[in-house]
Amino acid sequence: MRDDGDPKMSVRPRPPAPPIRLGINIDHVATLRNARGGRHPDPLRAAALAVEAGADNITAHLREDRRHIGDDDIERLMASLRVPFNMEMAVTPEMLAIALAHRPHGVCLVPERRQELTTEGGLDVVDHVAELAPFIAELRRAGIQVALFIDPDPAQIRASAEVKTDAVEFHTGTYCEAALQGDPPTVARELTRLVEGARAAASAALEVHAGHGLNLDNVGPVAAIPEIVELNIGHFLVGEALFIGLGPSVARMRATMDAARQGLRHSDTEMSVSGA
Ligand code: PXP
Repeated sequence: MRDDGDPKMSVRPRPPAPPIRLGINIDHVATLRNARGGRHPDPLRAAALAVEAGADNITAHLREDRRHIGDDDIERLMASLRVPFNMEMAVTPEMLAIALAHRPHGVCLVPERRQELTTEGGLDVVDHVAELAPFIAELRRAGIQVALFIDPDPAQIRASAEVKTDAVEFHTGTYCEAALQGDPPTVARELTRLVEGARAAASAALEVHAGHGLNLDNVGPVAAIPEIVELNIGHFLVGEALFIGLGPSVARMRATMDAARQGLRHSDTEMSVSGA
C-alpha cells in the first residue's frame, strides 16, 4: 500500500521477530540404547553434538514407564549440560518431586498414557485448572520455568493464562500429519489455528513454543510465526541422523528455521494507523 504523506497513516516495518530457539529432544537416542541395554548410543553424547551443531536447549521426556530416558540420564544431563535443560513430564507427584530435586531450567507438562506411542494431543487445561494451578506454582517457586503442552485452542490458551504458567507449547501434530497426508485445507486450517493461537497466547503474556512431528518440509511456516520463540524437535532429527549424522541433521534444521525467520524479517511489513 502507498504511503501518501498522511501523517496518520504510514507503512511501518514490523519490529523484528525475536530469534527462534531450537530444542533437541534426545528421547529416541535413549530408545535405541535401551533396545539392547548398556550405554550405547549415549543420549548425553547426542546432546553435546546437537549443541555443537546449533541447538539452544536439550529436551528429554522422563516417562512414568521410563521407556527411553531414565532417572540416571536426568542426573547426568543436569550435571553436564551447559545449555538449558527442558524436562517433559506428566502431572504426577512422582514427577513433581523429581523436578524439584533436580531443578531443570524448564519443565513442559504433557499428558501421558501408557499405551500411546508418543504424546497424542495436548493437555486438557480447561478441565484441570484446580489441579494444575498449585502444581505450576510449586514448580515456579523453585525457579523452574513451566510450559504447558496444549493444542492451539482458544479455551486452552485462556485456561493456561489462568493457571499462571510461563509458557505454552503448541502441539503441531495435526498440522504435520495433514502435511504428510497431502491435505492442503487441513494444513491451512491448522496453520491459522497456530498463528491465531500464538497471537492470543503472546497477548496474554505467555511465551509460545511449538513442537511434535516437525521436519525439514513442514517447519518453515511454523518457524515464521513471529510469536513462536522455541521449537522442540526430536524424532525426525534422530531418524535423519542415521543417514547424514546428528550434527548435520541438527545444522540443517537450524538453517531451515533461521531462513524462515529471516524471510519474515525481510518481507513482513504492516500498515499502522498512527494518531501521533
Ligand atoms: N514437544 C513435546 C512436548 C513432545 O512431547 C514431543 C514428543 O516427545 C516433541 C516436542 C517432539 O516431537 P517429535 O519427536 O515428533 O519431533
